[in-house]
Amino acid sequence: MVSEIRITPSILNADFSQLNSEILKISEVADLLHLDVMDNVFVPNFTFDFQAASEIIAQSALPVDAHLMVANVDQIAIDYANLGCASVTVHAEATKNIKQTLRGIRSAGSRASLGIKPGTDIDLYEEFVDEIDMFLIMTVEPGFGGQKFMQDMMTKVRRTREIIGDRPIWLQVDGGISMSTIEYALDAGADTFVVGSAVFNDPDPAAMVEKIRKHAHDHSHK
Ligand code: DX5
Ligand code: ZN
Repeated sequence: MVSEIRITPSILNADFSQLNSEILKISEVADLLHLDVMDNVFVPNFTFDFQAASEIIAQSALPVDAHLMVANVDQIAIDYANLGCASVTVHAEATKNIKQTLRGIRSAGSRASLGIKPGTDIDLYEEFVDEIDMFLIMTVEPGFGGQKFMQDMMTKVRRTREIIGDRPIWLQVDGGISMSTIEYALDAGADTFVVGSAVFNDPDPAAMVEKIRKHAHDHSHK
């Protein structure tokens, strides 16, 4: 049973030409802003370079949860932490020195988060658990919003919850989360939810965040 639920909307499906006003729409109701950084190398899509991301982070009305889907992430992860991100996620598949990078993120003042792609085994990373403030389990292949939730990832979410035990580590799921899929992730032990298209394709993004949060809260207290 999770005690606290966090909703971290992704702006990947928001209108990039007016991001500030898109972010403002959810700033009263979201916990963090999930910023998907893609380099067209680690994933077949590009979103922001460091300069553009820095401007978004500096202007964001919400604390930023940076999800770095970039190759050779070790150094740039520290640069993102130094920008003042609340949380920085590096993908296990993109790091050369996981422990050093996670420690570097923490010492720059951000929460250190480890992301895991659908094809990657979580057990390989259990040994780093004490360096980690959040696990991000991908529930789609990273790269694009609007994909179908991979329900078969729930075994991995459950296993991650076991690895976490009673440590105060957040467990985030990312990809295809909506009113109809969040229950599966909650039941498996997730407590932090990226929601992209379900929020920004809705005519009222803030109302949708609140609706999803209430639904998650009601479901977890059943
Ligand atoms: C995908 C991104 C996700 C994506 C989620 O690679 O990491 O954060 O924006 O969008 P939805 O909720 O539409 O799957
Ligand atoms: Zn993401």
